[in-house]
Amino acid sequence: QQARIGLIGLGTMGAALAQNIAEKGFSIAVWNRTTQVTRQFHAEAGDLADRIVPTETLADLVDAVAAPRIIVLMVPAGQPVDDQLAALSPLLAAEDLVIDAGNADFHSTTLRTDAGLPFGFMGIGVSGGEDGARHGPSIMAGGTRAQWDLVQPILTAIAARAEDGTPCAAWMGPQGAGHFVKMVHNGIEYADMQMIAEIYGLMRDGMAMDAGAISRVFAGWNDGALRSYLIEITASATATEDPHTGRPLVDMIVDRAGQKGTGRWTAIEAQHLAAPIPVIEAAVMARNVSAQPDQRRAAEDRFGAAPTPCRLDTATLEQALIAGKILCYAQGFAMISAGSGMFGWSLPLPQIARIWRAGCIIRSTMLNDMARALDDHPDRNLVLAPLFADRIEAALPALRQVVSQGIAAGHPLPALAGGLMWFDMIRTARGTANLIQAQRDFFGAHGFSRIDGIDDSHGPWGG
Ligand code: 6PG
Repeated sequence: QQARIGLIGLGTMGAALAQNIAEKGFSIAVWNRTTQVTRQFHAEAGDLADRIVPTETLADLVDAVAAPRIIVLMVPAGQPVDDQLAALSPLLAAEDLVIDAGNADFHSTTLRTDAGLPFGFMGIGVSGGEDGARHGPSIMAGGTRAQWDLVQPILTAIAARAEDGTPCAAWMGPQGAGHFVKMVHNGIEYADMQMIAEIYGLMRDGMAMDAGAISRVFAGWNDGALRSYLIEITASATATEDPHTGRPLVDMIVDRAGQKGTGRWTAIEAQHLAAPIPVIEAAVMARNVSAQPDQRRAAEDRFGAAPTPCRLDTATLEQALIAGKILCYAQGFAMISAGSGMFGWSLPLPQIARIWRAGCIIRSTMLNDMARALDDHPDRNLVLAPLFADRIEAALPALRQVVSQGIAAGHPLPALAGGLMWFDMIRTARGTANLIQAQRDFFGAHGFSRIDGIDDSHGPWGG
């Protein structure tokens, strides 16, 4: 009997996803470039081994899967995906379907979809790290509706479940729609992490709190409005002891953040879409600065370290983080809306909020209310939804206090400040771009519109 589905690439994520698929009752054929990896995977599959078919060549894998074949690619993004698609081309038929479940650039997914491959192709975003892949990720699927209908029973079976039981897997739209939404998810992930790190920095460097005390604060916040996976793991990480020294492990970790690029893609794409996402951009910038330790050392030697003590209380920090989080998600959803328009997709914003409620890295309680707010008006900025407008109004003084006091005391708060700057701009009906327009017209005769409607679009500049 042939397997229901096939999977290529038994790295950490591929292996976890294959086990998840098998555990949910689907027989799965697997193949890895290195045969030993495949054999070992099968040998260690325990109770699931019966449902796993190890194969040693790509042709064997294809033969082992029942037609129309569904084959999941779990290989590194970029050239390895194209290499696998090329290798599969002579082996698959038009009704077969290959799913790229890696972190592909959504533009590449759109190109691959439109490239006229001799089989069906869909790109899906999968979030949740290894644990999510193993026990229930959040799945953002791109492809045609018919392709989604074909794979939906499997993808919803392996996905995480929200507290109300809804599977966290949904069809986003054609082409690169799934990978686009996953990309913005990752941008928000970067921003959430950065804002948490900024608040951590205020407690550590401004309020002289040790990791244990900081951990208890985060643990407390995880019982309130900030309840989320990232706050939960932050509480746990700051409580973890270094096995080598007995000191808090976070104190022993070099302050240089890695990145595989999805946050950067979000920032670059936001510029193409003219979508303002300063919180996410700040988070990418902060990772880039973190990666220049020599320069930071030289500048600290020359100027002295910036952060100095500042008097803030943790209740104010919590409120500031709540405001920052709402502003960040408002920007992220607005970017999704902009992408939806630009690429001619109808991205389902409320459903995106719903499938992010469990399984993914940015899962949080607040997404329940965001989903409901987006139900009412998917295209209205989240800060204008009555519930979130009220919450922003309540938390804004804290954000302003934290940003202004923190900056005055030399604490770098680019993401929190970016959120506040953006908010103050969008609530200013008469901004300062009138001067930009005057300058543009002055040096380049670019023209302007007048507030009184008089039909004169150029100034008599410089006499
Ligand atoms: C997820 C994550 C994941 C991402 C890692 C690391 O949703 O499961 O977004 O896809 O690759 O979190 O990303 P960086 O290396 O860019 O931090």
